[in-house]
Amino acid sequence: SGDPGFFGIVRRVRAAGLPVRVLPAVSSVAATFARAGLSWDGAAVVSAHGRDLGPALNACRALPVVAVLTAPGAGAAELGAGLAGWSRRLAVAEQLGTPDERLTWTTPEQAAATVWADPHVVLSLAPDAVPADRIRADNQPAAAPAGGWALPESAYAHRASMITKAEVRALVVARLRPRLGRLLWDVGAGSGSVGIECALLGAAVIAVERDPDAPIRANAARHGVDVRVVAGAAPAALDALPDPDAVFVGGGGTDVLAAVAARRPPRVVAALAALDRVAPAVHLLRAAGYAVEGSQLAAARLADLPGGSLRLAATNPVVVLTGELPEPSAWRKP
Ligand SMILES: C[S@@+](CC[C@H](N)C(=O)[O-])C[C@H]1O[C@@H](n2cnc3c(N)ncnc32)[C@H](O)[C@@H]1O
Repeated sequence: SGDPGFFGIVRRVRAAGLPVRVLPAVSSVAATFARAGLSWDGAAVVSAHGRDLGPALNACRALPVVAVLTAPGAGAAELGAGLAGWSRRLAVAEQLGTPDERLTWTTPEQAAATVWADPHVVLSLAPDAVPADRIRADNQPAAAPAGGWALPESAYAHRASMITKAEVRALVVARLRPRLGRLLWDVGAGSGSVGIECALLGAAVIAVERDPDAPIRANAARHGVDVRVVAGAAPAALDALPDPDAVFVGGGGTDVLAAVAARRPPRVVAALAALDRVAPAVHLLRAAGYAVEGSQLAAARLADLPGGSLRLAATNPVVVLTGELPEPSAWRKP
């Protein structure tokens, strides 16, 4: 069905060494967008067919326009269940090209409660309110951001010191390994700068922040990414969240780190300004089975002096801890 060279059988036939002549038809993805009357040049196309649903689900959480090729048990119902809490509408195209062909617009909640006929394709779309410039039209729906990352603090609205400094953020974001298909939590998100940069690199992100006035949504909109904001205090606010691939703990005490470790994310990164918290955090992560490494970062930035001289202006030292579960199988690979 569809184009056999697009998530189809051509690769397998070639791998078997058989001679192959491909006669393409309209892909089910193209057919679905056509039935929905939408352009799809900025869409990401992912497959849950014969593989873990998680990366496809996280693509829907991260990006505004995603088409998902499905399989029985990994289709519209399962995607709908996983999208609870994210603002999305879904289009489900069942049995394309047959007399029973049907396109249904639905919500994640309704999709989760429906039995869908196979085969079907799911479109996951951010709401209409999302500005048109959110939709990538550069043929690279999940490419690294054109404007880079580890951006200066001036790129974010923030209050006083409630932002991870650019030099620290560069290391933290690298250690979190964000990419399309992964889900990250930014706990104690503050300005949301860490989570936003992970979202710029393709990850689905949940920002947890107890201050309801924190400017996370405004910052995410400014950078054109979708970050789900959970307003509440960790650890309680973490209970109902889906399991992450990596967590950044930028705020909260040892109890927050303990609650995060209990969820067994493959990677945990913490930035600690208070020295007395470093040893308990290391011991806690090690006791939970994480291999831990840490370093202190104290960037001194160039600043101008009168007369054209330069001086160094110190930023506050921070200890960055990275905890990694040793089992490679625990690291969910998209
Ligand atoms: C292995 S992929 C094949 C994709 C195919 N090569 C194409 O270009 O459409 C299988 C998935 O494609 C989608 N699909 C293929 N044919 C379909 C059809 N007639 N109606 C709805 N979805 C279809 C479904 O999501 C199905 O699970």
